[in-house]
Amino acid sequence: MTELSPLDSAKDAAARAAVALVQDGMRVGLGTGSTAVFMVHRLAERVHAENLRLRLAATSRATCDLAGQLGLTIEELDDIGWLDLTIDGADEIDPDLNLIKGGGGAHLREKITAAASDRLIVIADPGKVVETLGAFHLPVEVIPFGWQTTRVHIQHLLETLDLTHRPMLKRQRDGRDFVTDEGNMILDLSLDVIADCKALSSGLHAIPGVVEHGLFLGLCDLALIGSPDGGVIEMTRPEVVA
Ligand code: 5RP
Repeated sequence: MTELSPLDSAKDAAARAAVALVQDGMRVGLGTGSTAVFMVHRLAERVHAENLRLRLAATSRATCDLAGQLGLTIEELDDIGWLDLTIDGADEIDPDLNLIKGGGGAHLREKITAAASDRLIVIADPGKVVETLGAFHLPVEVIPFGWQTTRVHIQHLLETLDLTHRPMLKRQRDGRDFVTDEGNMILDLSLDVIADCKALSSGLHAIPGVVEHGLFLGLCDLALIGSPDGGVIEMTRPEVVA
């Protein structure tokens, strides 16, 4: 195997630590992105070496294809029904384990899968840990019909939240509009700092045409942050005092 870069070593360390938590008989959701690719490889190694019997659901076509190539059987989430655990990457992780996801454009399926799991474990390199969410663009999946009108509604929402004059770019890939696995498009919002994630989340959900956004609030249970030397730091959600 070729030697990994320091960044990839960090991703692989996080992936290995998460895969070590998988037990025989579990129902597991498989995330999307470059860190999740390491996780799918490590999981496949364990499944074959230990003859693990797992039921697996994928959060994207890309992950489904990779898993198939590695000899893993992927089922529909609806056929499994509920998952013990989902392991996924993230674009930003704050100290309360709130996340921005969707850098790979899969946040809709990722959120549905995470919400159908007892635990969401996020795997990441140290560059993903932030004090406040927002430096990474916030992906918002919108349906193509009337998308420019939807965009105006989003602009109005941002103004009410004092987030005026923020660029909102239609995501492109290879010179064309990016199309999600669900056939939708993505608007990437450059917000710098999101002071009130809950208000932004509920405001976006109230706009017709918005399918889902990349804020994952209160969904993540554990973040495993790998380092290039192979070490892993665990981040857990602070206890909420009533
Ligand atoms: C895809 C995601 C990814 O998990 C997120 O973008 C992190 O990706 P990577 O591990 O490549 O940095 O949310 O929709």
